[in-house]
Amino acid sequence: MSTSLRITAASVEPELFDLPWHIPLKAWPKETIAALPRGISRHIVRFVHLDGRVIAIKEIGEKVAHREYDMLRNLGRIGAPAVAPLAVVTGRIREDGKPLEAALITEHLAYSLPYRALFGQWLKPETANRLIDALSILLVRLHLLGFYWGDVSLSNTLFRRDAGEFAAYLVDAETGELHENLSPGKRAYDIDVARTNIIGELMDLQSGEMLDEDADVVGLGNRLQERYNTLWGELTRVDSFASTERWRVDDRINRLNSLGFDVGELAMSSDSSGSSVSIQPKVVDAGHYNRQIMRLTGMNVEENQARRLLNDIKSYRALGGRGDQDLTVVARDWLVNIFQPAVNAVPVNLRGRLQPAELYHELLEHRWYMSEAAGHDVSMAYSTRSYIESILVHRPDERALLGQVTE
Ligand SMILES: Nc1ncnc2c1ncn2[C@@H]1O[C@H](COP(=O)(O)OP(=O)(O)OP(=O)(O)O)[C@@H](O)[C@H]1O
Ligand SMILES: [Mg+2]
Repeated sequence: MSTSLRITAASVEPELFDLPWHIPLKAWPKETIAALPRGISRHIVRFVHLDGRVIAIKEIGEKVAHREYDMLRNLGRIGAPAVAPLAVVTGRIREDGKPLEAALITEHLAYSLPYRALFGQWLKPETANRLIDALSILLVRLHLLGFYWGDVSLSNTLFRRDAGEFAAYLVDAETGELHENLSPGKRAYDIDVARTNIIGELMDLQSGEMLDEDADVVGLGNRLQERYNTLWGELTRVDSFASTERWRVDDRINRLNSLGFDVGELAMSSDSSGSSVSIQPKVVDAGHYNRQIMRLTGMNVEENQARRLLNDIKSYRALGGRGDQDLTVVARDWLVNIFQPAVNAVPVNLRGRLQPAELYHELLEHRWYMSEAAGHDVSMAYSTRSYIESILVHRPDERALLGQVTE
């Protein structure tokens, strides 16, 4: 009957035709729906099992669906942290012949959480700070790529755990625009919208008694602005120094690396007498540590996780007296002898609770606390058993938070 159904996708996904497109999304049968936490939205959004993975479906006007799909594809192409688009479905018709709205399909971002699911009953001010910091990094990264968001908010962002911090991803690109170069005015507007939305969202939490009524929500909104400005300044500022102080070039690059950015292109100029030099990063790419871990281990992890793993590989090298060996060789041994055994020690039924790199980060933390308490190093095998029994089994299953998501 649904001969009019059209699916626009970059890759062939025949299973998509098996979904009940003739039914409004909110009435889809329970068996197809994946119960995962979801943020607040105007449109109907559902997660659906499809051939061993989970997809997110949003019912939305046809034009907007295509626009958002194209925008997300472009963002993916330039390496922006955003959800990945899969398809647009149009020409949906109900059994009684009435038309239904189009649908935008994206891949569910594994292990991601909407901000409202990040706290069971209560948002700790400390957690709020971390969310804001992650969002400010995301905004800087998007702006560097020339993306104007137009609707920055906690609701339009997804968060992944990142070695005790958070990494933020864009989930809603409906209002976005890609520019060759983003004007300061557009950037300022995005920051302003972010600030206003964050304050509103946090006040909402306060009135719902999920955030302490004394928490400084305006301060948190301002924090985004401050964090953004500091990072933007670090990444784009012009440095001038005497031409005898060339080491300051390395210094600047090292500082950018430690913030997780690589310098793709650097503009240098000197004055007519040649006594002073100016430098300014022209192209900076996020993912300094991510790329190193990718090259060494093949794992694609978040930036802070990558930094953590890199340090662990280096201390494994030092402790093994292998300081003269190439990190590539050492990393392979570390993966087989250290990382994999630790992660595999976790019972299968608990493995889905955390991403392997985040799990490993927690294992390292736990071993550190145990060693400190014992006054000597405890073995990884021993502390891993303790972590599983005393922490992981009691960890709230983040998937179970679904019941608290309001729509
Ligand atoms: N690919 C995805 N992976 C994980 N979660 C997703 C994904 N797509 C959507 N979501 C969830 O659905 C929620 C709503 O999505 P989205 O913000 O795109 O809807 P919207 O109706 O356009 O929102 P708005 O009200 O801001 O216009 C998100 O906050 C997020 O929690
Ligand atoms: Mg939204």
